[in-house]
Amino acid sequence: MNIEVSARITRLPPYLFGRINALKAAKRRAGCDVIDLGMGNPIDPSPDFVVDKLAIAARDPHNHRYSASAGLYNLRRELARKYERRYGVQLDPDKEVVVTIGSKEGFSHLMLAMLGAGDTVVVGDPAYPIHVYAVALAGGNVISVPLGNDAAFLTRVEDVLKNLYPRPKLLVLNYPHNPSAITVEPLFYRQTVELARQYNVLVINDFAYGETCFDGYQAPSFLAVPGGKEVGVELSTMSKPYNMAGWRVGFCCGNAEMVQALATIKGYYDYGHFAPIQIASILALRNGDEFVAAQAQVYQRRRDILVAGLRKIGWQVDSPRASMFVWARVAEQHLAGQGTIDFSLRLLEEAEVAVAPGRGFGANGEGFVRIALVENELRIKQALRQMDACLNGRKHQRPQSRRAAGTPAATESTTEEHATAQDRAGLVGG
Ligand SMILES: Cc1ncc(COP(=O)(O)O)c(C=O)c1O
Repeated sequence: MNIEVSARITRLPPYLFGRINALKAAKRRAGCDVIDLGMGNPIDPSPDFVVDKLAIAARDPHNHRYSASAGLYNLRRELARKYERRYGVQLDPDKEVVVTIGSKEGFSHLMLAMLGAGDTVVVGDPAYPIHVYAVALAGGNVISVPLGNDAAFLTRVEDVLKNLYPRPKLLVLNYPHNPSAITVEPLFYRQTVELARQYNVLVINDFAYGETCFDGYQAPSFLAVPGGKEVGVELSTMSKPYNMAGWRVGFCCGNAEMVQALATIKGYYDYGHFAPIQIASILALRNGDEFVAAQAQVYQRRRDILVAGLRKIGWQVDSPRASMFVWARVAEQHLAGQGTIDFSLRLLEEAEVAVAPGRGFGANGEGFVRIALVENELRIKQALRQMDACLNGRKHQRPQSRRAAGTPAATESTTEEHATAQDRAGLVGG
């Protein structure tokens, strides 16, 4: 049989995390306790009060039926309340909010809702991989614009908007940024709105790390600047701030026509989340502000340990003020002429530490690795010792059982099959 899959599959860009995922899976199978700082997969538990509510709601048979594809009204209303409370943004829960199966699904189906064959989308490079893949899956073309700092990026974007014909239809933003952890101030969004109006381009801000902020920084919402709602939407998630990644709850809100286009696609494709998940999420949004702030502190402490340790190893690293990542330029003597994919393979093989190679996020990620703050403090310190031994030849004692260095991370406790399935699904890039 000659099985021809669709061009939608075959035109996907190459998946650059494949070799690392394969090696990680092989090492785990061989019993190695890899310290996994590769995926942005939270290890800390969801809030107890939310889990309790889920359990209660799951016992009520009224909640066992199909739900609503756009999400329960009360959940949409709670998200609107949170936007008002946190950002001063007013949203109509009926027209301007839709519940998604995580922000990744929301982004992907939004591409399907907005793009036709050959439409173009401006995306920064490096990028969270789905920002590129979802455009390709929807039949669109990506115009990659080197990210750089925020002002330089906007200048480059304007250049593209001015000179490219047909004009790009969408501009994808993602601040706080994955992988680079770049953050912006409201001025950046005000300038973006001006560009959007001038060149008739719509804006999507992936705000997945909007609440994972450090040192008093508060990431601005794109929707909070005048005109934001007129030109675009914002995607947010329960995954990162509430440690609810497995629950798959996210939101798309803002411009009513874009939100409704997404809701229409979802109306055809799905029946919405299991109602107890949505009911528990309402409670999380309503009563979870302290939890979210405390979780950001957890990441901040890990960030401090990681940044200090990397500097000791000899890397020049900026300390991020948001996101779950440290984006670190690998010291030249450690890169030793290799690309970051080979470098990351070496680190995994010899130091038994998994990081995400910058090249996997785009050509402009070359030279960097992304290190996720998803192991506890003891294991991050242990990872740093193992990296130091591998890269600088310094002697450190490895714990007899490396699990003694702290409680096992969630990724370690997943079954081998699960880890392999996750890897196939590309979570190293997540
Ligand atoms: C920038 C960005 N957007 C979206 C997602 C996906 O989040 P969700 O769990 O809401 O689908 C991630 C996950 O790593 C991410 O880094």
